[in-house]
Amino acid sequence: MLDEVEAEVIGVSFGANGYTTADQAEDLTRRLGLSPGDLVLDVGGGRGWPSRYIQELSGCGIVVTDPIFEGLEASNRLDGASPAAVCTGSSLPFQPAVFDAVVHSDVLC
Ligand SMILES: C[S@@+](CC[C@H](N)C(=O)[O-])C[C@H]1O[C@@H](n2cnc3c(N)ncnc32)[C@H](O)[C@@H]1O
Repeated sequence: MLDEVEAEVIGVSFGANGYTTADQAEDLTRRLGLSPGDLVLDVGGGRGWPSRYIQELSGCGIVVTDPIFEGLEASNRLDGASPAAVCTGSSLPFQPAVFDAVVHSDVLC
């Protein structure tokens, strides 16, 4: 049932914890001009939607961050490999120059 609602609302059945649609994620990927070799920081990435989709579309690398450990745990389980960090958007443990782009969708921080 939840899968069906998610597919109808955001366009995929991913197990997301937000409302960013597949169309919005595709538009974001196009606008950023991402390609393999780029590294993207996802702030407030929750369970990994839509950054995993952006990764799939573009071939870029992704680092997911979120203050809620359980969301990141699900994110890594879904992806299997990408790094993740538990932190808020105002306490990121990275140097900005490390990333080619930063995304934060459906996040207030
Ligand atoms: C509605 S979900 C959006 C998840 C995903 N980005 C998406 O588009 O589907 C909002 C996320 O923001 C995270 N969040 C809340 N406060 C935050 C903060 N201060 N800094 C970064 N992320 C935060 C929540 O834990 C949650 O995973």
